[in-house]
Amino acid sequence: MAFPLILLVVGLFVLPPARALIRFGCAQLVTERFDPLVTPGQVSPHVHQIIGGNAFNLTMQPDFDVPGAATCTTCRFKEDKSNYWTATMYFKHPNGTYLRVPQIPNHVIGSPKGGMTVYYLQIAQPGEKVTAFPKGFRMITGNPMLRSKDTSDIRNVTKVSSWATTFRCWSDEDFLGPSNKYPPGAGEYDTVHLPNGKCFGGIRANIFFPTCWDGKNLDTPDHHSHMAFVEGKVDPNMGIIAQNGTCPSSHPIRMPAILYETYWDTRPFNDMWPTDGTQPFVLSMGDPTGYGQHGDYLFGWEGDSLQRAMDNCTDGFGTPENCHELTVLSDDEINKCTVPPKVDEKVEGDYLSALPGCNPLQYGPGPATMIQGCTAISTTSFPTPTPAV
Ligand SMILES: *[C@@H]1O[C@H](CO)[C@@H](O)[C@H](O)[C@H]1NC(C)=O
Ligand SMILES: *[C@@H]1O[C@H](CO)[C@@H](O)[C@H](O)[C@H]1NC(C)=O
Ligand SMILES: *[C@@H]1O[C@H](CO)[C@@H](O)[C@H](O)[C@H]1NC(C)=O
Ligand SMILES: *[C@@H]1O[C@H](CO)[C@@H](O)[C@H](O)[C@H]1NC(C)=O
Ligand SMILES: *[C@@H]1O[C@H](CO)[C@@H](O)[C@H](O)[C@H]1NC(C)=O
Repeated sequence: MAFPLILLVVGLFVLPPARALIRFGCAQLVTERFDPLVTPGQVSPHVHQIIGGNAFNLTMQPDFDVPGAATCTTCRFKEDKSNYWTATMYFKHPNGTYLRVPQIPNHVIGSPKGGMTVYYLQIAQPGEKVTAFPKGFRMITGNPMLRSKDTSDIRNVTKVSSWATTFRCWSDEDFLGPSNKYPPGAGEYDTVHLPNGKCFGGIRANIFFPTCWDGKNLDTPDHHSHMAFVEGKVDPNMGIIAQNGTCPSSHPIRMPAILYETYWDTRPFNDMWPTDGTQPFVLSMGDPTGYGQHGDYLFGWEGDSLQRAMDNCTDGFGTPENCHELTVLSDDEINKCTVPPKVDEKVEGDYLSALPGCNPLQYGPGPATMIQGCTAISTTSFPTPTPAV
């Protein structure tokens, strides 16, 4: 989509050259109620937008050979058959129906269809090595049930984990205004809840994962306690990108810092807000607050390709073409990699009478609860349904 989205190049500020990054766009693979990490074998309670390798499936156990099974990827590097997913956003029309808000790419990363931008940043103490994720690794950041944070003044909480998921409200349609001047997470223009007012240039989610691994578990039952955020502070102006801290002794291994940016084009809805002025955007788990924002990561790089990239790709902008260790795919190649949805329900394209699954809006502040007796579709079109595990 031709529009002058100028996103900040985060690497310029804080990452010395030897600690650089890769940053790349990924097109949409499929959008449906699947979550092989949290609900393997079962249709997920809410809709996700998924990018990455086409081995994505209802069940993907840690011993599943992801790069061996995938034949294409929607991400820029051929070696990356990982899967990445988040909630989708819907616009709630004043008449009570819901329309999916389109996701658009950041212009500096090419023209993928929808999808997200993914960063692998190397944020570490001097002399500390950044170790790539092992085969079978997966994790979650954020919590879909949250509808509030335990502090009323989040700007006074400099803990890294407090800023893991944030939203940037773009102040200007041309993206040249002040909201472009800050790195993601903390900073003047980011909030940990969905923006309350109209964002004239749209809304971007910034989703950070923890960077410290326990060195033992590829996953844990809650999908996050094998990982920890650094013990240290977030600079309230420079954001979580400038996190300066050490890994706790329980989680001593420094991994790449993964950041997803999902950009929603909310501009077409700015003249359709309800008359009472309340913001009309909700996340697919029935979250009108944004506190339940979350991201899922399932590692699927071929061989040692991610480690080689971390060791050798030191371009401060993270430009794929400057990472000679890896093979760069064209927009055509990544856009034509898709998988067909397997849950027979409409999740986008039209105004829907309800959010897919059983997701009435839950405003908090207490955590959201699952709806009892949900009768939403729970099976897939697979010939032999995979039993729940
Ligand atoms: C996904 O899983 C189903 C059921 O086990 C299987 O039939 C199908 O081939 C798998 N798809 C891919 C792309 O691996
Ligand atoms: C709600 O508004 C949308 C947009 O105008 C329209 O397409 C849809 O049919 C309306 N639905 C109902 C139930 O009024
Ligand atoms: C942050 O909170 C502490 C007390 O917990 C308070 O003393 C301090 O003034 C606050 N800082 C800001 C910038 O609000
Ligand atoms: C990180 O924190 C340490 C200890 O507080 C400090 O000595 C160092 O200067 C900080 N580094 C940066 C880049 O802010
Ligand atoms: C890239 O990194 C690997 C270690 O992961 C190293 O063995 C290799 O020599 C490096 N390649 C270049 C071109 O520096």
